[in-house]
Amino acid sequence: MVKAKLMLAPLSELTTLSFRIIAKELGADLTFVPLVSSFALVYGNDKTRELVFEGKKEPGLKGIQIFGNNQEIIKKAVQFIDELNIYDIIDLNAGCPSRKIVDSGSGSALLKDLRLLRTLVRTIRENTKLKVSVKVRLGYYKNNIEEVVKAVEPFVDMIIIHGRVAKQGYSGKSDWDSIFRAKELTNKIVVGNGDIWSREDYFKVKDKVDAVMIGRAALRNPGIFSEIKYDKKASKSTILLRLVELEQDINALKKLSLFLISGLKNSKEFKRKITLIKDYDELKDYLIFLANEIKPE
Ligand SMILES: Cc1cc2nc3c(=O)[nH]c(=O)nc-3n(C[C@H](O)[C@H](O)[C@H](O)COP(=O)(O)O)c2cc1C
Repeated sequence: MVKAKLMLAPLSELTTLSFRIIAKELGADLTFVPLVSSFALVYGNDKTRELVFEGKKEPGLKGIQIFGNNQEIIKKAVQFIDELNIYDIIDLNAGCPSRKIVDSGSGSALLKDLRLLRTLVRTIRENTKLKVSVKVRLGYYKNNIEEVVKAVEPFVDMIIIHGRVAKQGYSGKSDWDSIFRAKELTNKIVVGNGDIWSREDYFKVKDKVDAVMIGRAALRNPGIFSEIKYDKKASKSTILLRLVELEQDINALKKLSLFLISGLKNSKEFKRKITLIKDYDELKDYLIFLANEIKPE
């Protein structure tokens, strides 16, 4: 895990198995299955379990991110994952600001109750041989990252910090100075996250944290990983073809291809077409046609 410098952020419904495989092929060292409900996992929701099992097909270092706020359920979910022998890391989501998750007392709501957050990471630690991480924001209403780090650090191997408070949503900028300060406070692995849009952004921060995690930029440009790691641009056309080859879910294929082509010439017309297609094979055919159209870019 120490060697993983470059990570793909978990993005709910977007960082599917196919996208994670592509990110790895382009240079990402570590990926996470996003936002798995501990409750759904324990109480046998088939779709959730399928998402978890499918990690078997992914190469390389991999994590799975769970959410929840109930100690007993988290314990059972962790034991379930531990026995699978598929993943290297279990991550607890303590950063998601979405209404649905926060209202259920999970995600970033845990930043309002650091004793509970500490209990949950301790429970994970005590029930797995896997590495343990927690993904946090700087705080809920205000930046209290020192207290957050202090609460979790005895029980985790790695702390992933998105440099915004939960109440901010995605407004403003990720506060990397606070992330660097957090790094000074602990000898656990600290991963910085937020607003890394280019190779240049990455090189500005990489020496002051142990690793960097990239989310939204990778959706539009999965090649950001090869730009950073190998100083090499990747062809969007090739990535689109790989996506068509791997992604079996029509909705995911639509969403991911829409991100991928945004910003390209004529993308408005392409996007309109993609949105209208209802048949999976038709969508694949159209995307293959598109991959040839955008080749020169
Ligand atoms: C559409 C979307 C879905 C996300 N889903 C998750 C998620 O499931 N788990 C999580 O920890 N963070 C999630 N995030 C937050 C990202 O992992 C990341 O922390 C955030 O986007 C900041 O990084 P970036 O500026 O590189 O995108 C999501 C963000 C977006 C935009």
